[in-house]
Parts: sequence; structure tokens; C-alpha cells
Amino acid sequence: MNTHAATLDVATIVSDARTRVDAAQTPAELDKIRVEYLGRKGVVTARLKQLDSLSPKERPAAGKALNDAKRALLAALEGRRATLADAAVRERLAGEKLDVTLPGRGRGRGALHPITRTLRHVEQLFARAGFAVEEGPDVEDDFHNFEALNVPPLHPARAMHDTFYVADAARDDARDGEQAGGHLLRTHTSPVQIRVMQRTSPPLQMIAPGRVYRCDLDVTHSPMFHQVEGLAVDEHLSFADLKGVVASFLRAFFDEDDLPIRFRPSYFPFTEPSAEVDIHWRHGGDRHAWLEIMGCGMVHPNVLRAVGCDAGRYTGYAFGLGVERLAMLRYGIDDLRVLFDNDLRFCEQFAD
Ligand code: PHE
Repeated sequence: MNTHAATLDVATIVSDARTRVDAAQTPAELDKIRVEYLGRKGVVTARLKQLDSLSPKERPAAGKALNDAKRALLAALEGRRATLADAAVRERLAGEKLDVTLPGRGRGRGALHPITRTLRHVEQLFARAGFAVEEGPDVEDDFHNFEALNVPPLHPARAMHDTFYVADAARDDARDGEQAGGHLLRTHTSPVQIRVMQRTSPPLQMIAPGRVYRCDLDVTHSPMFHQVEGLAVDEHLSFADLKGVVASFLRAFFDEDDLPIRFRPSYFPFTEPSAEVDIHWRHGGDRHAWLEIMGCGMVHPNVLRAVGCDAGRYTGYAFGLGVERLAMLRYGIDDLRVLFDNDLRFCEQFAD
């Protein structure tokens, strides 16, 4: 046992220990100090063991002093340990400092993602035809995504959209949204039609590019993908106008003047009549097929009514096209997933 320490008073022991704790530079040093004072054979521990030899009168005060000393030492050790940890983090961060204003060291100039390129290409072509670009929120309400588009609650068309519902803060039962006015991730860009018609009045011509979400994932489906919506409302618009715009767009996009296109009757609740548009695609050699590329139709009168537009006076056409599909065809990509993996070996191929 440390006879020197045995002769010291408790206050001196504590202040000596504190000085050493404050000077310690590593957690290991702190451990050593802790053991020296509070370990099984430590200075303070030894004093505690000696309490037995004191008279019952001296014992309580001495015991209290030692316990206070022990607590003070532990607090000092803990405090120093935290300070050291803090300093270590600060030092590491300083070492990792990075000047983002320095010029890059890479070889390439960077490039736009094929989806972005496709979106820009589509926007450019429609801008030329006088279509404004509009946007709407990704988190939509049931009214804009379904109800105003002539899809009332319980309408079977809702089953075609594997909808992600968003739990509302006030009422965190997401399934309520299916019935009554909850929020969801938009399943198509068609709600932007509603938002624009609510905000403006005809004549109008717009496209709305953006992300859409459906609870679906396999080789040909991603839970997030992109669409471009189109809408024109005016007096006297007919299906012929729709066909003209769609055909000129597709031929310009694929840069093929006599690209074969066909309109196949289809169904969407928000258009009547409705069609799906196919293009005849040659894969090279003698492999070719009709590929579905977009949905379209004449705006359903119920949709015009939902936004307070005079359905007797105005007609409109609308279309919605899948951007991934367009990009895959244009760039010869045969697996949808590479568009979202962001593997540099893939992305770098699209550098200008
Ligand atoms: N919103 C439809 C879909 O996502 C596409 C569409 C848009 C169809 C506009 C007709 C008119 O499948």
C-alpha cells in the first residue's frame, strides 16, 4: 500500500488526481489514473477499507469525505474523457477538410443522365409546338390524383394504380386515404392537368414532366418512374388535333419521318374516347414489334366540370407518356434497372 498516500488528507489526494486527469492526453492514461485511485488496490479504495479501523465517532465523516472524493474523481475522469473524444472528432474533421471550390481532378466533364436528356428532348419538341412546361407536387391529394379525374372512391380504375398512401400527421392511418381525401404519392402526372385548369382558363396548351410512383418492382417496373403529361383545352379541339400532335412529336423524337404509329382504342376514366399509342419498332435484323408508348384521349366532360370549365363550350385532349420507355428505345437500353443503378460505366456513355 502507498504509505505516502496514506499520510495525505483526502483533499490533497483529490486535487493531485485532478491535476493528473487534466493533463492526461489519451483514454489509456485516464484508465491508468482511475485504477491508481479507484481500482481494487487504489489509493481511495485503500482508505475506504481502513474505515473499519476508525472509531464509530470518526467513521461517518471520514466515510462521507471518501465517497465524495470518489464521486468527484469519477466526474473529473468522465469530463476529461468527453473532452478528449470531442477533440479527436474535431481533429479528424479538420484533417478531412475539403475545398469544394477547387477545380475537379476528374477527366470527364460530367454528363446528363439519360432520363434527364430524354426529358429535355421532349420539352424542347413540345416547346416548339407552343406547349408550356408545368409542374405539380409529388405528394398529391386524393382529389387531384383521382377524384377530379373522374375516378371516384371505390372506382375499379383505382386498382390499376398500385398507390403509395401517405400517413397524414393528424391521423396516421394511411388506409383512410383510400376512402377520404388523404395524401398519396401521385400515380401519374395527370393531377397536374387539374391543377393547371384550376389556376388558368382556356385556351391552354401544356406539358407536365415529372416523377410518378407505383408500388411495383420487377425487370420492367420501378416504384418511381417518369411521365410527361400533355393537355390542350380550347374551343373546337378534336381527336384529329391530338393525333397530329402526337404523331409529329413521335416522329421528331425518334427522328424518323415515316415511323409507323397506330392508335388503339383503350380506356382511361379521364378521357373519352381513349387510345393507346403504339409505334412500330425495328430492333435490327428482322425483329420488329408494335410497342405501346403512351396513353391519350379527349378530356372527359366530367373532368372539365370538376374544375369549373364549361364543358359545352370547350373540348380538350390529353396524353401521358412513359419517359423510361422512350429513353430505353432511343438509347437501345434493354433493362430498366440500369437507369436507376447509376453505375458510372453506364452513365459515362452518355457524355456529350
Ligand atoms: N395517366 C395515364 C396513365 O398514367 C396516362 C394518360 C394521360 C392517359 C392522359 C390519357 C390521358 O396511365
